[in-house]
Amino acid sequence: MCGIIGYIGKEEAKPIILNGLRRLEYRGYDSSGIALVGKEGIFLCKAPGKLTVLNNLLTQEIPSARLGIGHVRWATHGEVNEINAHPHLDCKGEIAVVHNGIIENYHLLKEKLIKEGHLFLSQTDTEVIAHLVEKYYHGNLEEAVRKALKELKGAYSLGIISQREPEKLIGVRLGSPLIVGTGKNGNFIASDIPAILDYTNLVFYLNDQEMAIITEKQIEIKDFQGRLLKRKVNKIEWDISLAEKNGHPHFMLKEIYEQPWVLNQICRRRIYEEKILWEEMGFSDKELLGFKKIFIVACGTAYHAGLVGKYILEELAGIPVEVEVSSEFRYRYPLLDKNTLILAISQSGETADTLACIREAKQKQIRVISICNVLGSSIARESDGVIYTHAGPEIGVASTKAYTAQLGILYLFAFYLAGLKKKIAEEKLSHLIGEFKNLPLHMETLLKDEGEIKKIARRFFSANCFLYLARGRDFPNALEGALKLKEISYIHAEGYPAGEMKHGPIALIDENMPVVCIVPQGKLYEKMFSNIQEVRARKGKVIALATQGDEIIKAHADEIISLPKIDELFTPFLTVLPLQLLAYHIAVLRNCDIDQPRNLAKSVTVE
Ligand code: AGP
Repeated sequence: MCGIIGYIGKEEAKPIILNGLRRLEYRGYDSSGIALVGKEGIFLCKAPGKLTVLNNLLTQEIPSARLGIGHVRWATHGEVNEINAHPHLDCKGEIAVVHNGIIENYHLLKEKLIKEGHLFLSQTDTEVIAHLVEKYYHGNLEEAVRKALKELKGAYSLGIISQREPEKLIGVRLGSPLIVGTGKNGNFIASDIPAILDYTNLVFYLNDQEMAIITEKQIEIKDFQGRLLKRKVNKIEWDISLAEKNGHPHFMLKEIYEQPWVLNQICRRRIYEEKILWEEMGFSDKELLGFKKIFIVACGTAYHAGLVGKYILEELAGIPVEVEVSSEFRYRYPLLDKNTLILAISQSGETADTLACIREAKQKQIRVISICNVLGSSIARESDGVIYTHAGPEIGVASTKAYTAQLGILYLFAFYLAGLKKKIAEEKLSHLIGEFKNLPLHMETLLKDEGEIKKIARRFFSANCFLYLARGRDFPNALEGALKLKEISYIHAEGYPAGEMKHGPIALIDENMPVVCIVPQGKLYEKMFSNIQEVRARKGKVIALATQGDEIIKAHADEIISLPKIDELFTPFLTVLPLQLLAYHIAVLRNCDIDQPRNLAKSVTVE
């Protein structure tokens, strides 16, 4: 996820753009850049690293300009460096573009444009847009942009300016958010509200397939066919700190709600005409087929994702999988050989224990693929191959959207291996991929139940201990739900395989013990139902996550959270959401510090 801002008006553009980028830095912070249109044409400045690096470059005198665009990058295509930072220019340096999203067909477009004589400087997908606009520019920037859009496939929000038309700022939206702001001293485009709230609280929302043609005095909103659209202005009531969380009180809640988008991005980026794409994984199919065992190493939430990965990879791809917490892996004697693949999972890509594991594996010539969220992070750089989750920056210490993204990658990896090993027929695989692509919709539906979960939190927030029970693929979510509760509400909680409860923890159960039971329809339903009855027989309070319309469970639970009906293979994507919300609302009721819980850090870079 990146951040875009654009300005045109009476004021000097530079300070407004830089301030906007500062407000957007939470969206991406591995590089940044600015393009200004002054009397001498386009002034471009960009730099890898934090925004302060760009600010320091701009202290010297720069040309006066009242039109500009800026960008903070969360790198997706192309490594983190100055050339790949946005804005990107056309061959003549007369058109500048900033972009948030993915151009799925950029390879094809880039090849074609190079054949037509265009000179590319970066590895990014974005640069093709600048050259396409150049190709179609014959004196009308709006028309050139519209023609260029016809060739793009993917999700994008764009800011475009040209020194050929220094009175015009163009914004485009398809699949990535973009708003238009209107103030007394000028007009704006931005990825979201924080970037412009210091200057105006009057905004127009662009819908998909719409563009805004903006001058100092006028804003026109048109569809991609050029038809003028009527749009009412909205007054934003938020204060700035809320705005940085898109109106959510905490980053954690914002990131919980981003999960359908994250999974949608994974589908857009990695599934193309039923094929699964691994841009930067770095292993051939032949090499992947050579692995006879996978060893997953990770910590915390990433470890729980690895456990789900074990179930899926063994079930679909028929490959033995071991999963170990990184801090244990190194001090036991794991049986590894040249046919073992180490799969390291890490949101931050900086977790010391996991980094130590891959270093150890590399010393033993064991090959490593990492699943990371932060581009260019240590674990990503030191692995033989990397699969990025592209979940955007995860600010809340309690990991949520990164977990879902890790699950998404692990499921696609299992589908891919299953296809390579011919464990699953083409037809079945394409059905599963179809089901996978529908998950974001089901997740959206489930998140609408937040109110019900808030009520449950209100009933149990003063409990001293929770038990989370589940079976099969959902068992890791019992661990994850317990971890979420522990780390943000400071209530002790334990995730346990439901079948194992009677071998000890059942002694804990009494009328004061809330027991979360994950019991979707599926082959383990009856078993879970018996466990629920064992809890009830000891007066435990059952909070059941059950498939919509399940009247039996409803009659045997104290609280019910309904899950959309889906193929049981995919339940982990759904059952984790209510557990995140439950932990969140309990922690709010206990006045805990949600985004920065005590004793914790977002990335544990010490062993
Ligand atoms: C999860 O909510 C915790 N913040 C923590 O367990 C985290 O998952 C763990 O430290 C691993 O972090 P990583 O994914 O960045 O390696």
